[in-house]
Amino acid sequence: MYVTIDGIEKSFVNERKEQVQVLDHIDIEMEKGSFVSIVGPSGCGKSTLLYMIAGLESADRGSIRIAGNEVKKPGPDRVVVFQEAGLFPWLTVLENVKYGLLLKKMPKQEAEAKAIDMLKMVHLSNYIHSYPHQLSGGMKQRVSIARALVMEPDILLMDEPFSALDEQTRMVLHKELIDIWKKTKVTIFFVTHNIREAVLLSEKVIVFGTRPGKVKDVIPVPTSTDGVLPDSVTLHTEQRILAILEKEIEKVLKEEMGDDYSFTTNHLHRNDSGDMGSHI
Ligand SMILES: Nc1ncnc2c1ncn2[C@@H]1O[C@H](COP(=O)(O)OP(=O)(O)O)[C@@H](O)[C@H]1O
Ligand SMILES: [Mg+2]
Repeated sequence: MYVTIDGIEKSFVNERKEQVQVLDHIDIEMEKGSFVSIVGPSGCGKSTLLYMIAGLESADRGSIRIAGNEVKKPGPDRVVVFQEAGLFPWLTVLENVKYGLLLKKMPKQEAEAKAIDMLKMVHLSNYIHSYPHQLSGGMKQRVSIARALVMEPDILLMDEPFSALDEQTRMVLHKELIDIWKKTKVTIFFVTHNIREAVLLSEKVIVFGTRPGKVKDVIPVPTSTDGVLPDSVTLHTEQRILAILEKEIEKVLKEEMGDDYSFTTNHLHRNDSGDMGSHI
């Protein structure tokens, strides 16, 4: 297997100096070139696991192997795209995308050509000399994706990359991301709290439960030969995931609300975007 996450356990010490277990024996496998999403309630350890694959966080127990090599630190084979684009405001779009290549001592002309190619792929050819503050949220996130991909990583780690965007922009970026994935064959590990997003984008959805984070289920997303799934199939898969998550969300709400919990249960329902408010 290309990525093997084997028996990962992690605890943090909270403000009250108590040991809190965040990840409980996580086993996940990913094939090379696959697109895997992970959904779960907020605080269930999704980002922590992503940082571990990136080599930015260590596990208490267990291991992560990529192509047989244990992850011990960050490496050029893995790049992270965060919710906030995190661009350098004093550099143009092109300079932002070139930056990592120049750090790697790539000759200037080659770096520029690669950056321009990548910006074309995310449809920003007309904005290469703009500064980040001149761009919309969706455009900034496209720059951030181009900046990640220009490094030619084997694995793209995406931590809720579209959560701050409006619905229309998100739909456009979903399509672009799928095109990019098909073109580059990069392996994608995608963290989201949006069930619909996970089902639309990925081949496999890993459903996390909370406190401590645990793999509740792995749901394969049916594929179709022409790349377009009938709405009924998408909806059915979403509902399967929602049914698993509902129990988890209820657990979180009970803990957070105590006696007030019974007042809210009637209102717990999915809205149209596939989100469940701030609880997942
Ligand atoms: N460096 C840290 N120190 C202490 N607690 C942390 C740290 N990082 C994360 N946590 C806690 O671990 C839990 C899981 O966090 P996180 O992985 O960010 O969850 P998610 O991304 O699923 O929302 C949260 O309760 C968070 O407060
Ligand atoms: Mg997170």
